[in-house]
Order: sequence, then structure tokens, then C-alpha cells
Amino acid sequence: MLCFEDVSFSYPNKKHVIQKLSFQIEKGEFVAIVGPNGSGKSTISKLADGLILPKKGRVLFQGLDTKQKGNLAIIRKSIGIIFQNPEEQLITTNVFDEVIFGLENIACPPSEMVERAEAALEKVGMLPFRETEPHKLSGGQKQRVAIAAILAMEPKLIIFDESTSMLDPDGRHQIISIMRQLHNEGITILHITHHMDEVLSATKVIVINQGQIVSTGTPLEIFHKPQMLIDCRLELPFALKLKMQMQQEEVEVPMHITDIEGMVEYLWNSR
Ligand SMILES: Nc1ncnc2c1ncn2[C@@H]1O[C@H](COP(=O)(O)OP(=O)(O)OP(=O)(O)O)[C@@H](O)[C@H]1O
Ligand SMILES: [Mg+2]
Repeated sequence: MLCFEDVSFSYPNKKHVIQKLSFQIEKGEFVAIVGPNGSGKSTISKLADGLILPKKGRVLFQGLDTKQKGNLAIIRKSIGIIFQNPEEQLITTNVFDEVIFGLENIACPPSEMVERAEAALEKVGMLPFRETEPHKLSGGQKQRVAIAAILAMEPKLIIFDESTSMLDPDGRHQIISIMRQLHNEGITILHITHHMDEVLSATKVIVINQGQIVSTGTPLEIFHKPQMLIDCRLELPFALKLKMQMQQEEVEVPMHITDIEGMVEYLWNSR
């Protein structure tokens, strides 16, 4: 679905931001891209929807090259991006208008607008807030409205670019569970983050550092390379740090258990 082929990119005053990057995201996948600050993650999302163009190599969405101007309208309609700061994404005076605004931008037939907007708000649990002014919402609720606005446009791929990083744990949890739900419904997800405990839901993790791929694999495969994560200034999820310490005390927890709930259950049952 999304294909980076040997992509290199520099900003005018910043060289080698992305270096010979190749990866593919297939339809229906839930891919996480992780990397430290400044490693090029947001640049990847801008390259994906053709906001910026590769200096070398190609970015293709469903076979359409972002370098051809004529492809950009369809590519941008198919990819929805949720950004980091919920404050910067909402522009109208109430929740419902926010979703309608997005639909107007894609020239949705007026007869479908209300139904699509309501369905999208329902999906993220924000329909009861349809008349609320965005500034009265919590950060997590604002992100849910931003997601609804994107969902109403029926994208094929949704990129979450650090969309949870400004939220409290509760808000983060809600957004992650919405990502999971959307993935289960068949939407392709690209989750860009530097929180390692958020990648557990992904089917594939791509670790980048200094604009290059350092490692690719399932979350479990990635977590079993702690030195690589440390070299990339990424933190192990809390449950895994605990597990490694327990191993030092000779308390073994099976490989496949990677979250706190699983560990508590295992230890309880093995008393
Ligand atoms: N518009 C720009 N002009 C010049 N340099 C830029 C621009 N945007 C980003 N950069 C630089 O390019 C590099 C990669 O930036 P990018 O925003 O892609 O990283 P990131 O992984 O998303 O970082 P973060 O975790 O902070 O969001 C950084 O060194 C950054 O300073
Ligand atoms: Mg970024």
C-alpha cells in the first residue's frame, strides 16, 4: 500500500535527514515506526503524503508516485494524519462542525455529510459531545474528534504522528484502543512514536535512527534486542525492564509475556 524505495531526503539547512530508506506497509497492517527525537519520523509522514518529495528514490501509495503532481489529490484523500498537538488540529466552534469541515474539504455530497459525521463521532465515543466547543474538551477528547474528522473522510491509511505524546495516561490509553479497533475494522495504521510500550499492538515495528532503518520485526523480536534499543536512546517498556530485573533474581517469566497484566497473571498462577 505504502512503499518507500531507497528514499533520501535533506532539508535545505539539514543534510541526510532520511538516508536510503526502504520499507513497505501492506494493506491491513498495523505498523509502528519508533525512533528517538529528531530521527526523521515526522519527515517520513510528510514524505508519505507528498507534502515533501524525496531527493532520491520514490514514495509510492498504491502504486502512485508522490512526485507526479496529478497523483497528490488522491494520495492525500487516502491518507489521514493525526498530529501531536490536539490544540492545533481543531479550528471550528463545535465538535460536529469540525467533522463536517473535513467533509466539505473533500467535496462530500451534502446528503451524506450528517450521516458520515455522526457515524465517525460515534466510533470514537464523541457523539454525545457534538454541540460542545472544542476548547472545553480534554486533550484526549480533542484527539478523538481529530480522529473522527479523519475517519469521516474514509481514509485507507491513518498515520498517527506522536498523537499520544501530549496526553495523560488515560487519554493515551483511549487513543491506542481506538487504533486497535480501527485496525480490527480493516484500516491500515502507521503509528509513529517513541513510547516503546505503545508498540505492543503493532504487527510490525520499524526502528529508525538518524534517518535509517536499524531494525524491523514483531514487537517481541524488537524487545529482545535491548542493546539496540539503548543505542537508539529508546526505553524498554516498564514490564520488560521489570522482567529483566526479575531474571537477575532468577525469577523466569516466559518470553511471550510482555505486559504487566500478563506478568501478574503468570506469577499469580505459578505460586
Ligand atoms: N522544516 C525543517 N527544516 C530544517 N530541518 C528540519 C525541518 N524539519 C525537521 N528538521 C530536522 O530534521 C531532522 C528530523 O526531523 P523530524 O521532525 O522528522 O524528526 P522526528 O523523529 O519526528 O523528531 P521528534 O521525535 O522530535 O518528533 C531533525 O534534525 C530536525 O531538526
Ligand atoms: Mg516528529
